[in-house]
Amino acid sequence: MVTLGFTYFILLMNPFLAINMAMSVDGKVATPNRTVTSFGSPRDLAHLYELRATADAIVCGSRTVEETSATLGNGGDAYLKMRQKAGLASYPVRVVVSGAGTLASNIPLWKAHPSPVVVLTSSRIPSIQCERLRSLAESVWVSPSEEIDFSAAFSWLAASYRVQRIMVEGGPTLNDALFRADLVDELHLTICPRLVGGWSSPTIVDGIGQSHLAYASNLRLTRRRSCRGEIFLVYARHPKATADALPRHPSRFPDPPHGLAAVR
Ligand SMILES: NC(=O)c1ccc[n+]([C@@H]2O[C@H](COP(=O)([O-])OP(=O)(O)OC[C@H]3O[C@@H](n4cnc5c(N)ncnc54)[C@H](OP(=O)(O)O)[C@@H]3O)[C@@H](O)[C@H]2O)c1
Repeated sequence: MVTLGFTYFILLMNPFLAINMAMSVDGKVATPNRTVTSFGSPRDLAHLYELRATADAIVCGSRTVEETSATLGNGGDAYLKMRQKAGLASYPVRVVVSGAGTLASNIPLWKAHPSPVVVLTSSRIPSIQCERLRSLAESVWVSPSEEIDFSAAFSWLAASYRVQRIMVEGGPTLNDALFRADLVDELHLTICPRLVGGWSSPTIVDGIGQSHLAYASNLRLTRRRSCRGEIFLVYARHPKATADALPRHPSRFPDPPHGLAAVR
């Protein structure tokens, strides 16, 4: 009885959510023409896989999945062992956000079959696109609203796929929606020693943004480390006074093996 009650409580909690992004010194995450989509070193790529190895689900926006040809796998044997040690499934659930259902059919994501692909979409999706995505994905969750209700979507992921920890890997449009919904618990940011420039180069958060400082997301730097010119930072969320979200699963994201120094 006590176990049942505890399980129900755990399912009621919203998953812990972290975003991981790598940016140039001038805050860009891709070149203006979007042909170069990461400026990180092999160390930064390892960092991404280490973080993936702590998550039940990876979430990306549809442009990121298309433009980077991402398959959202587990990163190979070394990271599989980390997942097993942490008691996680061998592969993360792969989640793509596509509000209008424009996610392409001919991308590598659909050809790799390590774990379920789930699409989160909105009531704006035309039925023909919804049917197409249902034929490709294991499940399609349709928000009752034109704007995706991510809190409801993540509660559904928690209940349907036992997702307690989510790693979001962009892009900037999706990041913006998650920050505006006050759902981001941690931001993992790598600053890469390059300058890219360009009015149209995406930054870590684009989209609609906030029009007033009072609504801006407040972050607290909790960990940092530099390694061969790259700076690895972790910011924690400062809850907004108005937040009435469900309680979150506590952070169980361990420090990556190379260690991030705590900031006092
Ligand atoms: N350096 C890095 O760390 C890093 C990481 C990730 C991405 N990137 C780069 O960022 C660029 C892509 O960023 P992006 O901002 O253009 O794309 P994105 O956020 O990956 O995807 C945008 C698309 O995802 C869907 N979407 C996102 N948020 C939504 C919301 N709140 N409601 C409904 N649908 C939503 C929409 O799909 P529909 O059109 O189907 O509605 C939207 O068009 C690429 O160049 C990529 O390489 C860099």
